Amino acid sequence: MSLHGRPGYHSLEIESGALPFRTLRNAMSATPAPSDHRLAAIHAAVETHRPRPGALLPMLHAIQDALGWVPPEAIPVIATALNQSRAEIHGVVSFYHHFRTTPPGRHVVQVCRAESCQAKGGVALEEHAKRSLGIDWHQTTPDGAISLEPVYCLGNCACSPAIRVGDEILGRVSCARFDRIVEGLREEVPA
Ligand code: FES
Repeated sequence: MSLHGRPGYHSLEIESGALPFRTLRNAMSATPAPSDHRLAAIHAAVETHRPRPGALLPMLHAIQDALGWVPPEAIPVIATALNQSRAEIHGVVSFYHHFRTTPPGRHVVQVCRAESCQAKGGVALEEHAKRSLGIDWHQTTPDGAISLEPVYCLGNCACSPAIRVGDEILGRVSCARFDRIVEGLREEVPA
């Protein structure tokens, strides 16, 4: 089985009931210095979507698709382009858990928390995932291998509980199978 972790996702996931105003300052403490590559990707995303009505979310999605996260230097670029304050842009980034403000691990593992999966072992699976990786949602293992994220229905309800690794959706994932998948991901040599 080939599992290729890719950082970019197009779906918009909102964790119900949560208003996670994560501070940009905390994110920046683990943030690598800006690079020309990152700045170029940010400006390309902003220029591509600037003419659209409601351009902010498409810009943020394009940046995260390109880089795997929304770096802090994107905030002033977007704010200037849209003639909004940095606080307004940061508020939107913070509101949606989908947008990462720290770089993801080499592999992003999403565990489905929607109804069908929850009814078929998903609760135990998500508790096991957190425990075995030693991290909570939206965190990355200390070795940088795995980022763990919740997702709300992967369209694979018939094979609950389901997870997604990169772009690959896997069903009927037991705790033991989850551990085998993670073990395989850790053994993959980064390209
Ligand atoms: S509820 Fe988990 S895939 Fe649909």
